[in-house]
Amino acid sequence: MGVHIPPPPPQGQPASIHSPGIGCLTVTAQKALMDQIQQLDRVTLYTDVNFRASFILNGKVYVDSICLNDLDILFWYCEVDRSVGSYDLEVLHTLASDLKVVINPRGFEVGLDKYASHLALKRAGVSVADTILVDYNNLRYLKDLLDEWGYAVLKPRRGGYGKGVTLLGSFAALRDTIEYIYSTARGTPDKAYLIERFYPNSSDDWISTTIINGELVYGYRKRDNRFVEFGNGFVKVYDALEIGGEVDSCEVPPSYRVEALKAYEAIGAEVIGFDMITHCSQPIIVDESTFPGYYDDLFAETGQGPADAFYRLIVTEIDKLRHRCE
Ligand SMILES: Nc1ncnc2c1ncn2[C@@H]1O[C@H](COP(=O)(O)OP(=O)(O)O)[C@@H](O)[C@H]1O
Ligand SMILES: [Mg+2]
Repeated sequence: MGVHIPPPPPQGQPASIHSPGIGCLTVTAQKALMDQIQQLDRVTLYTDVNFRASFILNGKVYVDSICLNDLDILFWYCEVDRSVGSYDLEVLHTLASDLKVVINPRGFEVGLDKYASHLALKRAGVSVADTILVDYNNLRYLKDLLDEWGYAVLKPRRGGYGKGVTLLGSFAALRDTIEYIYSTARGTPDKAYLIERFYPNSSDDWISTTIINGELVYGYRKRDNRFVEFGNGFVKVYDALEIGGEVDSCEVPPSYRVEALKAYEAIGAEVIGFDMITHCSQPIIVDESTFPGYYDDLFAETGQGPADAFYRLIVTEIDKLRHRCE
């Protein structure tokens, strides 16, 4: 078994802490997890198998003198280059055709792209925002739909922290915003434009969930200082410094739990989170997060150790593998 779950950077630093290779667990959780992993029985363990510091020869991935394809299972959890076709993602996909890779890179990459993940959720019957993908040349076809919706939300497909999530109050605003992007930059790296229906909602009813190994470990809300004006009196979640935090645990009502767990199955990444708003008393998922909020204090409130859910994921996957081999 190979493991690449590096420690996080020092607390409270700005955007650079999200650069590829950086760990996504807290210091406490990462250390606890590594200690637990060391105790595993009947497992030959390679820690610090940094799949990003590798090369690929004919589909075989080499790190130092180790060929990662000879492992039975690789666990990884860290920031990677999230761009389409990045080396980090290619390595994980290449390995996944020969061994069990957790986090599953297919599910992980679906989770990175709001379009792909919204679609997966819609197809699975999950309550997710209505979603449009449109090419620059075909904007005019949206006029009637936008008139009906009233408001729409334009989003970066691989965005985060609420940045660039734009509330548009008319078809004209949408057209002009997108044509501005075209006129200045000849288009977006997103290729096509992702637009959602806007659902009026209150910040009091916003809920996020963290799910690990099919288990909804906790729900939380963002504090008021993590909401900003969205336009027309509405608010959105926004984090100028990109540092996360400012959350409090909350109950996850049964109907929200059901949607989140259906969504977990639909995406297929073993660790994921969903942001939900409430509209007409119903939960609607508006965001999927491949690195869901991970907070030691919220974990402690559930009565678990900081790394227990991750450890259970690893044990579950090892057990599945053993069953298959027996
Ligand atoms: N379709 C929507 N209707 C209403 N509010 C939305 C919608 N989509 C996003 N929001 C608001 O904007 C915030 C940021 O959007 P989100 O998709 O989560 O972007 P990011 O990935 O940058 O966090 C959400 O948490 C929510 O408050
Ligand atoms: Mg979000």
